[in-house]
Amino acid sequence: MTAVGIDAVEIWTGKLKLDLAETFAPEMGDDPAKYTKGLGLEGSSFPDAYEDIVTMGANAAHRLMERKDLDPDDVGRIDVATESAFDNSKPVSTYIAGCLEQVYEGDFHHANKGERKFACIAGTQSIDDAYNWIKAGRNRGRGAIVVASDTALYARGDAGEATQGAGAVAMWITENPSLVELSTEQGYGSADETDFLKPNQQFPSVDGKRSVQVYLSRMREALEDFESVAGETHPDDYEYIPFHTPFPGMVRKAAVLGYRHMIRGTDAEEALTDRIGPQPRRDDFDSREAFDDAIRDYMDDLKETEEYREWYGETIEPTLSISSQVGNWYTGSVHIARMSALRAAAEAGDDLTGDKLLVGSYGSGAQAEIHEETIVDGWEEEALATNIDEQIERRYDISFDEYEQVHDRHNHDKRTELEPFTQPDGEFVFDGWGPMNERK
Ligand code: CAA
Repeated sequence: MTAVGIDAVEIWTGKLKLDLAETFAPEMGDDPAKYTKGLGLEGSSFPDAYEDIVTMGANAAHRLMERKDLDPDDVGRIDVATESAFDNSKPVSTYIAGCLEQVYEGDFHHANKGERKFACIAGTQSIDDAYNWIKAGRNRGRGAIVVASDTALYARGDAGEATQGAGAVAMWITENPSLVELSTEQGYGSADETDFLKPNQQFPSVDGKRSVQVYLSRMREALEDFESVAGETHPDDYEYIPFHTPFPGMVRKAAVLGYRHMIRGTDAEEALTDRIGPQPRRDDFDSREAFDDAIRDYMDDLKETEEYREWYGETIEPTLSISSQVGNWYTGSVHIARMSALRAAAEAGDDLTGDKLLVGSYGSGAQAEIHEETIVDGWEEEALATNIDEQIERRYDISFDEYEQVHDRHNHDKRTELEPFTQPDGEFVFDGWGPMNERK
C-alpha cells in the first residue's frame, strides 16, 4: 500500500508579539506567573496591519511551493481550515490561490478548492480529506496543499484574551512523504457542545472553564475509540504526543489523563500504585465533589512521580515550545506542536525514522480525533527547513497601547486605521478590498 502523509510544512507567524509577562499582565493587574507558569505562555503573535488569514496562509503556501519546487500543475487540491473566515460563500482557498497565481506562470483552474470548518480540528480534517482523496486514487499523481490559518482573537476582557495568537501552517500532503506517514486508524470523540461558539460574530462566546472539561472528555473518548481499532496504546509506544494546544497548561491536563489511561494493566500501573496508592473509585465516596477532589489529588501526586516527569519531559514538553511563544493558532495549533518536537529532535541529531507519534487534535463544539503517524526517512531535513524560530525572534514587540489598536483593527475591519509596525519583505499583503492581497 502506498504511504500517504505530510511531505513538508511551512509556518508563518503574525509579525507582532504581545509579551504576556511584561506587557499584558501588569495592565490586567495579574501576577505574570499566571500566564507564564499557569497557562504556560510567554507571548502571543498578532497580525500586522497588512496581514490577515489570507496573506499569512498565502505566504506560508508560497514558501512551501518554492522550497519543494512545485508548480500549480503539481497541486490538485487546496484546502483551507479556518475559524476566522470573512466570506460566507467563497472559500479562503480561492483567495489564497488568487495570491499564488500572481507569482506562478500556471494557474489552479484544475485544482479542487475548499474550506473546512470545525473549530481547531479543521486543519486535521483537511489533512484527512487530502489523505482520502489520494488513497482513493483521484489525485492523478498530484498532491494537496492544506493551509490552517487563523487569527485567534477574544473580546477584550474575556478570560481567553491571554491565549490569543495568529499564524498559518501550510502542509504538502503527498504519496511517499518525507516527514510523516499517516495511519489509516483514527478514533473520534464528538458531541454537540456550546462551550465555545461564534454564531455570526467576530469574537467567540466562551465558557472557558467548561471548555477545558469538554476538551478532556472528547479527547478521552477519542483515545478509547482509537484503541478500539488500533489496539491498546502505551505511553512508551510514542516518541512524541502532539496535542491541540490552546495553551500549554491545557496539554498538561490532557497528558496526565492520557498517561494514566495508557498505563492501565501494565507494570507501570503497579509501580504507580505502590508509590501513591490506587486510583480513587467513585463508589468509595458519598458525593461527586469529594470524589473529584480525591481524583485531583491523585493526579497531582501522579504528576510528581519520577516516571511521569521523565515521560512528560521527553514526550510532551518538546511539543510546546513554539506554542508557548505564539499562543493559540486554532486550526494550526496541533500542527505547530508536531513541528516543535520534530525540530528539537532534528537539532539534537536524534534518529527517529520509523518512530511513532500519537496526534491528538481537537475542535470546540466539539470533537477530538486521535491518529498515529510514523516518522519517515527525510524528516530531519523537512523539520529543519522552516525558519519559524527566526520569525518568532524578529517579531515587533508591541506596547499595550499598540496592542489595543491592533485588536481594534482585527481581521478585515478597515474602519480602524492602523499604521504598520513592520515592513513587508517580498510577501503578500492585505491592501484593502480590490485590488487586494498584492505582493510587495
Ligand atoms: N502562578 C502560577 N500559576 C497560576 C497563578 C500564579 N500566580 N495564577 C493562576 N495560576 C494558574 C491557575 O491555577 C490555573 O492553572 P490550573 O488550571 O492548572 O489550576 C492557570 O494558571 C490559569 O488560571 P485561571 O484558571 O484562573 O485562568 P482563567 O480562568 O483566567 O483562564 C481559561 C483560564 C478559562 C482556560 C481561559 O484561558 C480561557 O477562557 N481560554 C479560552 C478557551 C480555551 O482555550 N479553552 C481550552 C479548551 S477549548 C479549545 O482547546 C479550543 C480552542 O482552541 C479555544
